[in-house]
Amino acid sequence: MEWDELDLETVTPRQVRQYLRDKYVIVASNRGPVEFRRDPDGNIRPYRGAGGVVTAMSTALTATEAVWISAARTREDAVVAGAAPGRRLHMPPEKPRYWVKFVIPGREDFHQYYNVISNSLLWPLQHYLFDIIRRPSVDEKVYEAWNNGYRKINRLFAEEIVKEIRSTDKKPLVFLQDYHLFLCAAYIRRREPEVLIHHFTHCPWVQPDYLRFLPQPMRRELLQGMLANDVLGFHTHHYVNNFLQCCREAEAVRASVDTKRRAVRLGDRETLVRHYPISIDHEALEKTAARPEVLHNRERLRSLAAGRKLVVRVDRVEPSKNILRGLQAYELFLRRNPQWHERVVFANFLYPSRLDLPLYRDLKREIEELAHFINREFGTLEWEPVYLEIEDNYMRSVAALREFDVLLVNPVIDGMNLVSKEGAVLNTRDGVIILSVGAGAYLELKEGVLPVNPLDVAETAQAIRKALEMGEKKRRAMARAAREAVRVNTSFKWFVQQMRALRQVERMREEALRRPGDFPALPRYERLT
Ligand code: G6P
Repeated sequence: MEWDELDLETVTPRQVRQYLRDKYVIVASNRGPVEFRRDPDGNIRPYRGAGGVVTAMSTALTATEAVWISAARTREDAVVAGAAPGRRLHMPPEKPRYWVKFVIPGREDFHQYYNVISNSLLWPLQHYLFDIIRRPSVDEKVYEAWNNGYRKINRLFAEEIVKEIRSTDKKPLVFLQDYHLFLCAAYIRRREPEVLIHHFTHCPWVQPDYLRFLPQPMRRELLQGMLANDVLGFHTHHYVNNFLQCCREAEAVRASVDTKRRAVRLGDRETLVRHYPISIDHEALEKTAARPEVLHNRERLRSLAAGRKLVVRVDRVEPSKNILRGLQAYELFLRRNPQWHERVVFANFLYPSRLDLPLYRDLKREIEELAHFINREFGTLEWEPVYLEIEDNYMRSVAALREFDVLLVNPVIDGMNLVSKEGAVLNTRDGVIILSVGAGAYLELKEGVLPVNPLDVAETAQAIRKALEMGEKKRRAMARAAREAVRVNTSFKWFVQQMRALRQVERMREEALRRPGDFPALPRYERLT
């Protein structure tokens, strides 16, 4: 049977390994699976990279040998990479399965590519989060950052990828990740026209009206860059439709869109546009949850709650996560429901994020202020209604997802949202998940969650009460539905779908070569003879 005809439900890691025997998987993402930092004792130690891309990709790669290229983010990354033979490190250190390679960008170039373009222009664009009255002003500095930072780092990644492609006799499969690398495929293509490239966008894709806020030259370059891939992957069919619509309306790109086949043609190239929702590796997560550090954190949480109900939030401090409205909703809930005073704690376990940007620093400060305000307003000698911890601590988050009675996940908009999926499989108390309809995960989990409109603080306050007061039977049924929805869709399946899509492209190419009518037109001089 052909690889692309394999049943997704039954395909095994062994079959994947078998298929990949003569392939070389090259993954590229801005943030890699590991980051090196110097501990206070002076030793350099590896830390797991944060974020959904890392979670999904590292589990996907357990089925194969591969190289993962990412940007060095710390001085220690550069030092360790420089010292490693061939600048390659075998990862993860305790059980090496794939290679990690760093590109080492200049400091200012990285700032322009990461802070100015990726985080202040593309990320808010992709999440409909421009503060249109004030931000962004696309001035000369932004153009400069696009021309000299964003392009340059995309080129740097492309060069490293081309080196990898040329280093092997196997057939390379390239998997590019996210908005940091929108231009990369175009640069690779110039030097390796035939290589199979897949790009996955881990955030939403907007409608054409919104994309139009991006200046036309950048928009054109971005779409052309994306259309240099063989396959584009998104989380949901909404994002696929939005992307196709953007291509249809992009006058300057002159692409033609085949909606039925979900394919876009630009010049002589065709790109397939597909959706596969990213997921988690629940078996690996269960193993992590059994670790002593998690057990220790669970005890800490239980003593923090002291017999009270536990509402939990686990998130990065990002504007899209809607953390302030979560706190506002909890405040309103306490105001309207004095019977719940002293009986509940709202534990916010947050990760610091992008603190180089004032917007993120301000957001962090506002969250701290609002948490203090609620504690001053409602707290008593025995009871602190809000617990807030902002630190990079994965074991604590896993413990919190094990222990919640209610999990609040109310992002304004989120490509997928893996916390809701992790919570669904990890929780041991039949806890209730309150989930924003703006999260991509809502489409999969809707039978097992309480939905909220992310802007509606009143509705969210009601949902908190409803979740806390829900009967055992209903809670159990919802928790089961959410758990099942996650279990049927693993991160392994997510990766397999991408490989199948690339195989489909390969097969289309093979068939085109076999069809006589599809042979390239003969050069003029040959036709004359
Ligand atoms: C958010 C986005 C992801 C992105 C990640 C990168 O979570 O939704 O699509 O990959 O940020 O985060 P970083 O901390 O590396 O900027």
